Amino acid sequence: MATFFPGESHTFSEYLLVPGYSSQECVPDNVSLKTPLTRFRAGEQPAISLNIPMTSAIMQSVSGESMGIALATEGGMSFIYGSQSSEDEAAMVKSVKDHKAGFVISDSTLTPGMTLAEVMQLKMRTGHSTMPVTDDGLAHGKLLGIVTSRDYRPSRDDPAKRVEEFMTPREKLIVGDEHITLKRANDVIWDSKLNALPVVDASDYLLGIVFRKDYDAHKTNPNELLDANKRYMVGAGINTRDYETRVPLLLDAGADVLCIDSSEGYSEWQKRTISWIHGTYGEDVHVGAGNVVDAEGFRFLADCGADFIKVGIGGGSICITRETKGIGRGQATALIDVCRARDEYFKEKGVYVPVCSDGGIVYDYHMSLALAMGADFMMLGRYFARFDESPTARVNVNGQYMKEYWGEGSVRARNWQRYDLGGAAKLSFEEGVDSYVPYAGSLKAGVESTLYKVKSTMCNCGALTIPELQQKARLTLVSSTSIIEGGAHDVVLKDHNQSISYR
Ligand code: IMP
Repeated sequence: MATFFPGESHTFSEYLLVPGYSSQECVPDNVSLKTPLTRFRAGEQPAISLNIPMTSAIMQSVSGESMGIALATEGGMSFIYGSQSSEDEAAMVKSVKDHKAGFVISDSTLTPGMTLAEVMQLKMRTGHSTMPVTDDGLAHGKLLGIVTSRDYRPSRDDPAKRVEEFMTPREKLIVGDEHITLKRANDVIWDSKLNALPVVDASDYLLGIVFRKDYDAHKTNPNELLDANKRYMVGAGINTRDYETRVPLLLDAGADVLCIDSSEGYSEWQKRTISWIHGTYGEDVHVGAGNVVDAEGFRFLADCGADFIKVGIGGGSICITRETKGIGRGQATALIDVCRARDEYFKEKGVYVPVCSDGGIVYDYHMSLALAMGADFMMLGRYFARFDESPTARVNVNGQYMKEYWGEGSVRARNWQRYDLGGAAKLSFEEGVDSYVPYAGSLKAGVESTLYKVKSTMCNCGALTIPELQQKARLTLVSSTSIIEGGAHDVVLKDHNQSISYR
């Protein structure tokens, strides 16, 4: 006879937090969102903690190098997508690791042969008025000069004029060398009255640019997630097939953490993958695993040595796994069950294995619920896909700006992989869709606003840290009628868009 889990399986929207006593210290500014990322023994500290409980999903439409840099700047971590060649993935990891905080990699680079008209078009598209000129037009090409808006007058100059005729050439530029610190670069900018300082290596290849305005911005990112060498931290997705060739490249590139990306983690394949990684490199190479939705799956992966365990099957916004395969569990119920298992495991073995709630976060308050239910951190796809920093283009759909967002199990993602792997990976059926999500501006502004709400909720529960929230939170299931009561009701909204503005 099959096993039947008692009770129903619920989603986040079916729960609410009942506020607890909050003392006068309970204000958002006093809240710390620091949280463990990797397993640790009782009485010890985790090797890696996040400064905010957010990771970005291992997806083509979410986690590339720009996302990696932007999220680490805010204190979270991206997991670069693994559905690409190992070399391409390693290059993305390297580009996050090579990015020096405050050293900008230009996305508007010129070649000497481009025309003034093309420069103007690029300026209009990116909004950048300072553009490096390199031999190949790439951000890390050999530096030949710089163009700023002081170098041309659009009303008077011939649009066909070539960049090499009006750029400030390399020999007239003050540059920083590859060992320059951000502080020193800033001093040079001030002493020489510059707006920007290009930084080059010994062969004059461009490494980045320090802008006068960015130094202060850098100082205002107190949560930056940095490694021991002050480089941004970044994770990388792996699979259970090519890890023997992929993992060495990712580690060489500087990946701080690996994570097996799979919709179903309770498997011998994951055990083999984790054993190979720890057997080859020791416990200092960290690897997360998943996804699971119950205590049995958690215990299996914890015993395999997973550094953190992801929870969630079928709850992702682009996911149709439940419809196609009939597997999964309501995200809230799965999370509560797994977090209980994590606490029991800790009591029994003295080892704490962090739990990540993956998929199904729609409203900001779902994050507060996930943390209250026991999650140490979240993995978010749809949420991050909406920002400037996701790898997809912003498109205008019927007058509204959108970003594209597609599942890793969609035809689109697998087609891409098939193209890369020369037809090796065959798509038998789809587990994800291709979609749009409403464009939401910069990651920084979005994350700040979301986390302010999370901190406020924590204060209402009398908690100043995530572990305290997990101890003190009082949760209640809500009836379908009270869900209606929770939104604006029985009034005529003046602004019809208001109902989606909470997201
Ligand atoms: P979201 O935050 O609700 O958009 O969910 C993102 C999560 O959905 C990812 O982290 C994956 O766990 C999961 N996911 C990504 N692509 C697919 C897919 O094609 N099918 C099913 N689940 C997916």
